[in-house]
Amino acid sequence: MPFSISVRPAVDGAREAPLLAIALPKSGDLPAELSSLDDTLGGALRRALAAGDFRGQRDETLHLAGPADGPRRVLLVGMGEAEPAPTAFKRAAALAARSAARWGVPSLAFLAPGGGKEAIEQSVAGLHAGAWKYDDLKSPPPEAERRPELASAVMLADGVEARAAVERGIAIGEGHSLARRLAMMPGNLCTPQFLAETARDIGERHGMTVTVLGREELERERMGSFLSVAQGTSQDPQLVTLEYRGGQGKPIVLVGKGLCFDSGGISIKPAENMEYMKFDMCGAAGVLGAMEAIARLELPLHVVGIIGATTNMPSGTAVKPGDVVRSRNGKTIEVINTDAEGRLVLADLLDYARTFEPAVVVDAATLTGACVIALGNTTTGVFGPDEALVAEVVAAGKRAGEPGWPLPVWQDYFELIKSDVADIKNTGGRAAGSITAAMFLKEFATDYPWVHLDIAGTAYSTTDLVALPKGPTGVPVGTFVEFVRGRVG
Ligand code: BES
Ligand code: MN
Ligand code: ZN
Repeated sequence: MPFSISVRPAVDGAREAPLLAIALPKSGDLPAELSSLDDTLGGALRRALAAGDFRGQRDETLHLAGPADGPRRVLLVGMGEAEPAPTAFKRAAALAARSAARWGVPSLAFLAPGGGKEAIEQSVAGLHAGAWKYDDLKSPPPEAERRPELASAVMLADGVEARAAVERGIAIGEGHSLARRLAMMPGNLCTPQFLAETARDIGERHGMTVTVLGREELERERMGSFLSVAQGTSQDPQLVTLEYRGGQGKPIVLVGKGLCFDSGGISIKPAENMEYMKFDMCGAAGVLGAMEAIARLELPLHVVGIIGATTNMPSGTAVKPGDVVRSRNGKTIEVINTDAEGRLVLADLLDYARTFEPAVVVDAATLTGACVIALGNTTTGVFGPDEALVAEVVAAGKRAGEPGWPLPVWQDYFELIKSDVADIKNTGGRAAGSITAAMFLKEFATDYPWVHLDIAGTAYSTTDLVALPKGPTGVPVGTFVEFVRGRVG
């Protein structure tokens, strides 16, 4: 069911909502703008705060029944900071929408007291995120057990600026939802062809140019590195380019790893948890989601999205450990481990990116398990030789509520990926695994400023994240969008 978000003046909207959710900071007094609402609630909010029943801790909630002449139920959601950042409103809104969906509330109203237009935008993105679900493949429950679905939300805010902020929040929310949907789809449905069709659909709706290269064209482009991954599968690999011309000049190029399934190939992965490797296309999903959001935001810039989609499968034709392949830029690569396939795909994409004469290239990939060991499931690894550019991307991620942290790409690490027979090898052993992966990419990201995001830990979660369920998070859509936005004007 589609989810819609509208905006209404705070006073009317609050009264009529079946559920009114209010984001509140840590141990604050009742904001002045809530005092008349609290009067209709018979002073329940003031009492709850005074008694310490609700302290505004992060993710803390208090659920109250409303009066006959007001909202039927009221949900307070804590933000955990005395002066909450806009992203704290996003988290609170996501938690509120998620609760509403669970309770079978068809619509909720959300209030962000004291929040400016950034907080409104973030709240709307959060409502979107909290309402997101993927139930296409589930049979509906029996009639008697059915509850209404959460179909809409109302952002309570006043003024023209608030309206524009709501529109921006919807644009970003739609981008995230698109990425999460693609990620959650099983590998037999979200195929390389499906990613290409999705790109064509985005292009058609927003007037972007979309080009798709299949196996034959990749051969013509001499992309021996990308092709070595795809040679184990009968599915046609797809290199998809979307070009958004919202402005002139050299483009910002976004690149995404699109492994619709990564079995490891001949260096096959253990069976346990292998199903998660349908998420190995989250970089590509992030590019598509970001392009959707960027177009909806009508950002006045030239942006190109490139994804490399295939699957990594063992078969009689699959690439083998010890094989040497030649990448588009002419470098020879010894394939030590066929499970280090993402960098083989990205090598050719990053070289191909040069043809667009980029102002900057940012790639995102679920590249290494080592990055999950280093930074866990809440922080993206950020790599690049240009420290100022790395800082720019980290700042963009922070604004989006998608934290990232730098890891070094010093030349000393290159020693670990020297090959006996070729120019470079595709793995460097267990030590510094996410760094050696980035060092590998660096050999192909030449002639332009470049940053690499390792989203292996952050693009999806195998545990419930309180505001979001387990599954895809939408990372790196927000980071991409904020990075591009940061370059406007
Ligand atoms: N897609 C995986 C990385 C991954 C692992 C993502 C866990 C998310 C969760 C990647 O293709 C891979 O298999 N990397 C190997 C590299 C190794 C063979 C050098 C890894 O991390 O084990
Ligand atoms: Mn792999
Ligand atoms: Zn992979």
